[in-house]
Amino acid sequence: MNKTILITGGAGFIGSHVVRKFVSDYPDYQIINLDALTYAGNLENLKDIEGFPNYTFVKADITDAAHILEIFKEYQPDGVIHLAAESHVDRSITNPTAFVMTNVIGTVNLLNAAKEIWKDNYEGKRFHHVSTDEVFGALGETGLFTEETKYDPHSPYSASKASSDHFVRAYHDTYGLPIVLTNCSNNYGPNHFPEKLIPLCIHNILNEKPLPIYGDGKYTRDWLFVVDHAKAIDLVFHQGKNGDCYNVGGFNEWQNIDLVSELCKQMDEKLGRAAGTSAKLITYVKDRPGHDLRYAIDATKINQELGYQPSVTFEEGLSITIDWFLKNEDWLNNVTSGDYQKYYDKQYEG
Ligand code: NAD
Ligand code: TYD
Repeated sequence: MNKTILITGGAGFIGSHVVRKFVSDYPDYQIINLDALTYAGNLENLKDIEGFPNYTFVKADITDAAHILEIFKEYQPDGVIHLAAESHVDRSITNPTAFVMTNVIGTVNLLNAAKEIWKDNYEGKRFHHVSTDEVFGALGETGLFTEETKYDPHSPYSASKASSDHFVRAYHDTYGLPIVLTNCSNNYGPNHFPEKLIPLCIHNILNEKPLPIYGDGKYTRDWLFVVDHAKAIDLVFHQGKNGDCYNVGGFNEWQNIDLVSELCKQMDEKLGRAAGTSAKLITYVKDRPGHDLRYAIDATKINQELGYQPSVTFEEGLSITIDWFLKNEDWLNNVTSGDYQKYYDKQYEG
């Protein structure tokens, strides 16, 4: 069926995988990638599909309400998949306002534009908001986040995402806007920006620099391969129940120190370095303020209702990821030149 789908944040890490999937799997759809190209947005992520006839890139900032409405009027999307965001917890600690602007105000601008062009005729329309498990706060040693878990965000990042989730639900409850929401765990994979733990450590291992582990390294995250996340978004966008939210996770918990040790092991093998070489780079550093102990998702709902299954084990996904970074050293060098170095020095040496 012919549809126009507007994907925000499509030049970012997860967004580029979602854009690629939709452009390749749905040749009848027109895919509009709307992105401001902040430090995290990179059109090199989409080189392989940029010439496809069903793909259009539009540079725009979601905090600019008038421009967003103009774009919605021009392209008349039937569906929106909203991924544009400020996404890094450490940056939210140093500059929370940027997170309120993009994640809260930007989301409301998109909701207003969708409501305006759909004019209460919601047949065949859908606004899919992509969010995080961090809105649920921190777990102790046991338990899992379900769709019923109460919101309890701690970082400015998770507070801004929680607020955006509430606005999306409020537009459904108040105006009947057709929405679905996904809250997923930590993603990893190709194109991951090296401010986040896994690509930062890959970059530092390649350059034989210290691997900074916050606190005691016992913090736990549930890791999800980005290609599997894109698959889950496709399923929920097309088959999710109107007004519902779905948790997406990997049933794949790792303490940070164990994860980095596994990464060191695989990197040593792939780089032909003696076993134990990269692990010597592990360095415990000052903890992140308000650091959430543990995130873990119960993905039973999406599994049972929509048949979602991750396609790879963590070891396989990590191996694919490392291979991608080794084959794409130019990509890594490009994104770590310039402003990245300033960010890195301030965050880790300042
Ligand atoms: P990212 O930081 O890699 O990419 C964000 C993209 O949004 C970039 O292309 C950037 O240019 C764009 N953007 C930022 N501000 C914008 C603005 N004002 N207007 C238009 N575009 C703007 O983020 P990501 O890791 O790909 O995350 C995508 C989404 O998934 C986010 O909403 C994030 O909260 C959510 N999420 C991410 C993870 C994760 O592990 N990375 C986990 C759960 C949920
Ligand atoms: P990160 O990749 O920033 O994702 P999030 O904060 O959204 O979970 O961090 C993953 C985990 O790794 C988290 O517990 C913080 C920790 N971490 C470090 O120990 N060192 C680092 O340099 C970074 C960036 C993260």
